[in-house]
Order: sequence, then structure tokens, then C-alpha cells
Amino acid sequence: MTQDVDNATPQDRFSRPIRDLRISLIDRCNYRCPYCMPSSKFGDDYAFLARSARLSHDEIVRFAKIMVGLGVNKLRLTGGEPLLDKQIVELVSRLAEIEGVQDLALTTNGQLLAPRAQALRDAGLKRVTLSLDSIDPETFASMSGGRGDLATVMDGIAAAEAAGFVLKINTVVQRGVNDGSVLDLLEHFRHSPHVVRMIEYMDVGNRNGWRRDEVVPSEELLQEIAHRWPVSALEPNYRGEVARRYRYNDGGGEIGFISSVTAPFCGDCHRARLAADGTLYTCLFATQGTRFLEPLRRGATDEEIANMISRVWRRREDRYSEQRAMSEQPLLPKVEMYRVGG
Ligand code: GTP
Ligand code: 5AD
Ligand code: SF4
Ligand code: SF4
Repeated sequence: MTQDVDNATPQDRFSRPIRDLRISLIDRCNYRCPYCMPSSKFGDDYAFLARSARLSHDEIVRFAKIMVGLGVNKLRLTGGEPLLDKQIVELVSRLAEIEGVQDLALTTNGQLLAPRAQALRDAGLKRVTLSLDSIDPETFASMSGGRGDLATVMDGIAAAEAAGFVLKINTVVQRGVNDGSVLDLLEHFRHSPHVVRMIEYMDVGNRNGWRRDEVVPSEELLQEIAHRWPVSALEPNYRGEVARRYRYNDGGGEIGFISSVTAPFCGDCHRARLAADGTLYTCLFATQGTRFLEPLRRGATDEEIANMISRVWRRREDRYSEQRAMSEQPLLPKVEMYRVGG
């Protein structure tokens, strides 16, 4: 992927172009991961967005086209849980047709993946990233807030494989919770084409009670892994890649580390996030976003919307992870992770 900047592409205050749009289709999730949507705070009566308060697929496709016109070449569908959107396959085929979209990916917890994997592939989805925190059934169940079933997710992985996807498996590592089962998870996926990436537990949102001592620094994890299976560093696939890559020296495949707490990567961050309610955020940890639902519904032209997006991006100066690295406490308040899909 190139970083060439054409005239239409807005750059922010740190000369970062806009390249990547992450679209949250729905704020609901069928899991209640304690680090994201703790069930104590997201009970059965929690007021998620009504359908009419969410962007329609027509609005999403229109917004994505405008973004691609501004230089975005990578789209990722997220949630909440994006597979709760029953029309997702049709949406994927519409997004895949947009000229200029080089990459179209999905982030899912995998619970509902098995029956849809082939259809998503056929519709033009290029990549699937699956969140899986443990392959120990008990740890898995508790990290999904008692909602997930490991065997069903494994079926989802098998179906995705059969449909021709090579997966990225995202594992959030929390000290005292699943750090003890990380090596088992890695062992399971060694010698498969899938790449497991270990994510440092982050202070996203305001409700997960984040504590720095629950973060397992990637460096520590790397030492532990390398002790069992020696590894070597790999070059990034592209500039601004979030994960640092390693390969097992014995040919067991590749792993990655996403170290937003101990090694922030804001310098090359070219990601924008569109929440299901049409609010555009320029950082995962943003306090405020810009609402596009009203302009989209009240007759703004494509050009007017493009100008609005450009203005937002040009005044962007987010670099939250770098700032947090310099402070002891998380900075408050922030958008909730389940609204912008990670
Ligand atoms: P690809 O390289 O396209 O596969 O995706 P990616 O590296 O952007 O990874 P993905 O979307 O799977 O993100 C993995 C995780 O990294 C997210 O769930 C977040 O936890 C974290 N992450 C992704 N983007 C950002 C970001 O911009 N800032 C921070 N702090 N964390 C991020
Ligand atoms: N810290 C790190 N990663 C998180 N995710 C959700 N909440 C957090 C957090 N607090 C991850 C999920 C998933 C992706 C969408 O974001 O596990 O892989
Ligand atoms: Fe749902 Fe993903 Fe949040 Fe877990 S991390 S509650 S699967 S949105
Ligand atoms: Fe980008 Fe914000 Fe994450 Fe930094 S903290 S990498 S600016 S999303």
C-alpha cells in the first residue's frame, strides 16, 4: 500500500493522510467481554441505538464512496458485532464494488460466522479478523461475559478457512485473566496460515475499570514465547502497520504484537472510525466526534460532505496513546470501544 498523497487527500496537523475507514455497523454485541461491555453496565435493558438512529446501508455506502474519493483505500466492518447485521452480505458486495477499495475486512467475534463465511467470501470480503481471547473453554466463556461458545467459534474458523480466508486472530491479554493460557492458544494455531496477534489490554472507553497492572507488556510476553519457541522479527507489511510481526524460527508461522500501551503507534495513524449512529471519530480514544447522520439525511451534497470530512481531518491532532504513555492515569472521558469497533 503506498502513502502517496494526491491533492484530494486531506492531511492532518501531523501530515498524516486519511487512508483507512472503520465502519461500525451496529452498537449491539452478543458478547459481554468485561474489558469492553461489562454485563454489569450493559444489562438486558441497556438502550442501544434504535434502527432509525443507525445509518442505513445506503447511507454507509454513500459515505464510504465519498471517503474513497478523499483517499481512503481500506475499509473494515466492525461493531459491536457486525454479524448481528442481517444484511451484511449484501452490504459487503456493495462496498466491494466501489472503485478504489483495495482492502475490505471484517472484525468479528466469530460466534455467528460459520453460516455466513462462504457468502461473505463470495460477496467480495477479502479478510477476516477474529477476536479470540483463549482456547481454554472456561477462560473463553468468562472473557465473553458468559455468552460465547468456544466450539461454535472454532466452527466459524473452520468455515472461514474452507471459504478461503486466512485469518488474523486477535487476543487481548489481561494479566491474571488469560495470560496463563496464551501459549496454549499460540500452540493451537502454530503451523496454520492464521496469524495470532496479542493485544495489550487498553484503557478504551470509560467503563472497563482499566488498571495498568493488568496490562502484560508485549516485551514480557515476547520473552515468554521466545523461551518456548524462538522467534525472529519481521519487517512491517506496510508503513503504519499496527502490529509488530515475528516468525517462529522453526517454520511454525507468524505472530504479532499490538502494543498500544507500551509502544504507541500514533505517528502513522491514518484511521478514521464511523460509529453506527453516523458520528465520525478521528481516534479510538476520542472524546468527541462529528455527526454525519443529519447532513446525510437532510440533503447535503456529496461535495458538501466531502468538505466536512476534509475539515475534520485537517484539524485532527489526535495521538492519544502517545500522550497516555506519558501519563500515569487514563485520560477521560472517551468514546466507548463497542461504538467504534476497536
Ligand atoms: P490489519 O493490519 O488491516 O489487519 O488491521 P489492523 O492492524 O488495523 O488490526 P485490527 O483492525 O484487527 O486491530 C486490532 C486491534 O488493534 C484493535 O482491535 C485495537 O485493539 C488495536 N488498534 C487498531 N487500531 C488502533 C488504533 O488506531 N489505535 C490504537 N490505540 N489501537 C488500535
Ligand atoms: N483493549 C484491547 N483490545 C480491546 N478490544 C476490545 N476492547 C479492548 C481493550 N480494552 C479488542 C477486541 C477485538 C477488537 C475489536 O478490539 O478484543 O479484538
Ligand atoms: Fe463484543 Fe468485541 Fe466488545 Fe467483546 S470486544 S463485547 S465481542 S464488541
Ligand atoms: Fe490513532 Fe488515536 Fe490509536 Fe493513536 S491512539 S494510533 S491517534 S487511533
